[in-house]
Amino acid sequence: MAALKEKRTCGQRCEDFGHFVWNSENGTLMGRTPEKWVYISLYYVAFYVVMTSLFSLAIWTLMYTLDPYAPDYQDRLKSPGVMVWPDSYVDEKIEITYNVSDKSSWMKKATILHNFLKPYNDTKQQECNYHNCTKGKYFIQNDFHAPGHTKWACPFTQSMLGPCSGLDDPTFGYNCSMPCLIIKMNRIIGFLPTNHTESPPYVNCTTLDGHDNVAKIEYFPEKGVMDLSYFPYYGRLAHPTYVNPLVAVRLSLVGEKKAKIQCRVVADKITYEHFHLPYEGKVTFTLTQLK
Ligand SMILES: *[C@@H]1O[C@H](CO)[C@@H](O)[C@H](O)[C@H]1NC(C)=O
Ligand SMILES: *[C@@H]1O[C@H](CO)[C@@H](O)[C@H](O)[C@H]1NC(C)=O
Ligand SMILES: *[C@@H]1O[C@H](CO)[C@@H](O)[C@H](O)[C@H]1NC(C)=O
Ligand SMILES: *[C@@H]1O[C@H](CO)[C@@H](O)[C@H](O)[C@H]1NC(C)=O
Ligand SMILES: *[C@@H]1O[C@H](CO)[C@@H](O)[C@H](O)[C@H]1NC(C)=O
Ligand SMILES: *[C@@H]1O[C@H](CO)[C@@H](O)[C@H](O)[C@H]1NC(C)=O
Repeated sequence: MAALKEKRTCGQRCEDFGHFVWNSENGTLMGRTPEKWVYISLYYVAFYVVMTSLFSLAIWTLMYTLDPYAPDYQDRLKSPGVMVWPDSYVDEKIEITYNVSDKSSWMKKATILHNFLKPYNDTKQQECNYHNCTKGKYFIQNDFHAPGHTKWACPFTQSMLGPCSGLDDPTFGYNCSMPCLIIKMNRIIGFLPTNHTESPPYVNCTTLDGHDNVAKIEYFPEKGVMDLSYFPYYGRLAHPTYVNPLVAVRLSLVGEKKAKIQCRVVADKITYEHFHLPYEGKVTFTLTQLK
């Protein structure tokens, strides 16, 4: 400590520093011989080369193990949710209300359905999904034979919804007490709804409330079936032209009435009784027709 406290002139300090940088007596540069400096440099070069290669190896392994056709994070959902169109939420409940005598009120519903069905336009489907799918069988594809190294998707056209397609009746029945609703099931990558391939998933709607107000429930396509050829879905990159199969439900209402309806997609792998997931496997809504 005493040595540090010793008073030295500025000149002496500069001289000391000079000695430190280049000491001609024992030939050291910054306290080390040039030979040592070479060894130190070599050590650091080797150190960084090793570090860089370890880092690159780690990145490469990560990239190699990632499947470019599967999303990095998959939802832990095992069973798909179900949705209804025209959708209109009121306090987290779905309430579909329209007034038969008020053109603007049912035009709004019809517009929602027309917009929803745009991807299902027959011309568009014929152009992008022209593969001939075999109905009634899962469309399992292990290869990427569709253009652009992708997988084929089966066409689902608006006209398959028959009277609810909006083609013959652009009002979707909202002007005459026979409103159409469209049921869609969310897609889950790799999901196969049933292992009994002779019984495809189908939509079953029941009235929970106001039974007398619903005279008839019809399904399009027939029996509300979602054909097996639309499953499985392979993900956005592998399956860019995929469209969900739909089922239209036409209700024949009686008078100025209200009904609470539940539509379920029935299949042995689709669950619907999860307490915290109200839209799992089913959708419940109230339909109110005013006059
Ligand atoms: C339905 O619309 C008609 C015509 O706009 C109107 O007179 C009637 O009050 C509406 N009904 C209800 C319940 O809002
Ligand atoms: C479907 O698309 C074609 C061509 O884009 C268009 O002419 C036709 O009007 C569309 N059909 C419907 C119902 O929107
Ligand atoms: C699909 O089938 C139709 C008629 O059966 C045929 O004209 C068409 O060429 C087929 N398309 C493909 C891509 O095989
Ligand atoms: C509802 O609209 C369709 C198509 O525009 C029409 O054919 C039908 O007569 C209309 N019904 C009523 C009750 O206005
Ligand atoms: C269908 O799958 C369920 C559950 O995954 C299983 O319990 C059942 O035995 C399967 N049925 C057939 C016929 O494979
Ligand atoms: C639809 O659901 C109702 C109520 O759960 C049931 O009684 C009916 O048998 C079902 N229909 C079909 C075709 O599964």
